[in-house]
Parts: sequence; structure tokens; C-alpha cells
Amino acid sequence: MDLDLNGKNVLITGAGSGMGQHMALGYAKEGAKVAVNDINGDAVAETVKMVRDAGGTAHDATADITDLNTVGDMIASAESALGGIDILVNNAALLTEHTLFLETDPDACDREIRVILYGTMYCSRSVLPGMIERGYGKIVNIATDAARVGQEREVNYSAAKGGVIAFTKSIAKEVGRHNVNVNVVSPGATNSPMRIGLQEGLRKKLGEEAWKAREAKVMRLYPIRRIGEMEDITNAVLFITSDAARHITGQVLSVNGGFAMVG
Ligand SMILES: NC(=O)c1ccc[n+]([C@@H]2O[C@H](COP(=O)([O-])OP(=O)(O)OC[C@H]3O[C@@H](n4cnc5c(N)ncnc54)[C@H](O)[C@@H]3O)[C@@H](O)[C@H]2O)c1
Repeated sequence: MDLDLNGKNVLITGAGSGMGQHMALGYAKEGAKVAVNDINGDAVAETVKMVRDAGGTAHDATADITDLNTVGDMIASAESALGGIDILVNNAALLTEHTLFLETDPDACDREIRVILYGTMYCSRSVLPGMIERGYGKIVNIATDAARVGQEREVNYSAAKGGVIAFTKSIAKEVGRHNVNVNVVSPGATNSPMRIGLQEGLRKKLGEEAWKAREAKVMRLYPIRRIGEMEDITNAVLFITSDAARHITGQVLSVNGGFAMVG
């Protein structure tokens, strides 16, 4: 199947590392031009270099997505550099604490909600007028199955992502008539450097034996019996933002090895 992403202009938030970086390379491989956003300018420079080294076109879109004016400037600059944004991937996120809700820091909670929910809404608010004017656009928001089925010790993060899912469905109803599709890709546990780092910390904390027992227990929650890899998420994102998925909007696509099967 030809996804026909060649020549499309894509903005990916949080693309300085992990899955966002992997997606940037995935789009570039398909011939799309990529605006690379992250709050970390060095990380953006690294992704931009990787895309260019692979023969692609990349634009530095460093910005903190929690500030609406900054986001407006970042998107205007990306639009003039690339010539309009066809595809927006709201991927940036922050998970600061892995602890019980009542022990979480309210300021950290505020920050997580700002990055995940407001960041997604600010980028969508800034990119949609251009999409509507051109009568073409695809937005995909990266959620998590923690938001679909609940996850202890990730309450603030899950709440913010649940907001992203509700936002997706509602905005999809408003902009469908303008030929703009808005969907969610919802990963289960996925081996990004962020998750691998968290797991290494847990391994040290628990000790080898308890760690292995925990791993076996986690694996039983996944009918496919493996943890996701970044390419599993990139493949779903590329598909859902392509014209092959033109009749799909307002949907949540879980990419999770069967971890959650919610109707
Ligand atoms: N890895 C998993 O197991 C997993 C599971 C479910 C969902 N997800 C989701 O997948 C996405 C990618 O996760 P990842 O594992 O690659 O994480 P990651 O931490 O490597 O990537 C997140 C990126 O967002 C950036 N960011 C944070 N605050 C920002 C801000 N204010 N402005 C701009 N950029 C900002 C970070 O600098 C980072 O580069 C996230 O939305 C995450 O919630 C991941």
C-alpha cells in the first residue's frame, strides 16, 4: 500500500527523542518534510541532523509548547519554511512522577497537564486555521492505554491523556467538514529510551529476582507476549495520517499487543 506521504509537510512535537524522533525518520523515509519540535534545542538539532543525513528535509522548530504565543510563532515559522503544515503529530509528553496520587506534587501535576493537554490544544489551535483554509489536514494525538483503562501511580498523566482523547473526538466533529481528520494513536508499553531508562531504574530498585518475576507478570498482560517497539507506533502514525485512512476520524487506535481491548 502506498501511503502517499511524499512531499507532505509534517510537524512533530517532542521529536527530540524517543518515538517522536523515530516518527521524524519514518516520515522522512516516505519523502515527507519534517518540522522537528521539542523544548530541548540540542535534541532537536540531533533529530534534524539525523533526518538530513538520511537525505530528508528538516526544519528546527524548537519551542516550549506550553506557551500559546510561542507555539503560534513556532508554527508560523514552520509554515513559511516548509509551505503549510499538512500533518500535525502531538507527541510531546511529560511523566514526572511514578507515585500514588496523594503523594504527587501539585506543581508537577500542573506541568504534566500543561505539556500533554494544553500543548496538544495549543498546537492544534495554531495549525488548524491553515489546514481549514487549504481544505486538507491530518492530526494525530499520542495518548496511552493508561488513559483508556486506568493506571495506578500515573494518575495525573492518565488524566491529561484522557483529556487528549476527549479533545480529539470533539474537535474531529468540528473539522471533518473541512477535510481534516483527527485521531488518537494509543500506545501500550513501548521500548523507547524513556521507558528503557525507567525500567533500568526499577530493576536496580527491585533486584534481579523480583525484577524477573515482575517482567513475567507484565508479559502475561500482553496477549501478543511482547512489549511494543517504536516502529510499531511509527507504522500506525504514518498510516493514520495518510490518505489510506481518509475515512477514519475521531478514533482511538490502540497499538498495544492486546493489553487493553476496550469497546
Ligand atoms: N514509552 C511508552 O511506553 C509509552 C506508552 C504509552 C504512551 N507513550 C506516549 O508516547 C509519546 C512518546 O513517548 P516517549 O517514550 O518517546 O517519551 P520521551 O520522553 O522520549 O519523549 C517526549 C518528548 O517530549 C518533549 N517535551 C516535554 N515537554 C515539552 C514541551 N513543553 N515542549 C516541547 N517538547 C516537550 C521531551 O523533551 C521529549 O523529547 C508520549 O506522548 C508518551 O506519553 C509512551
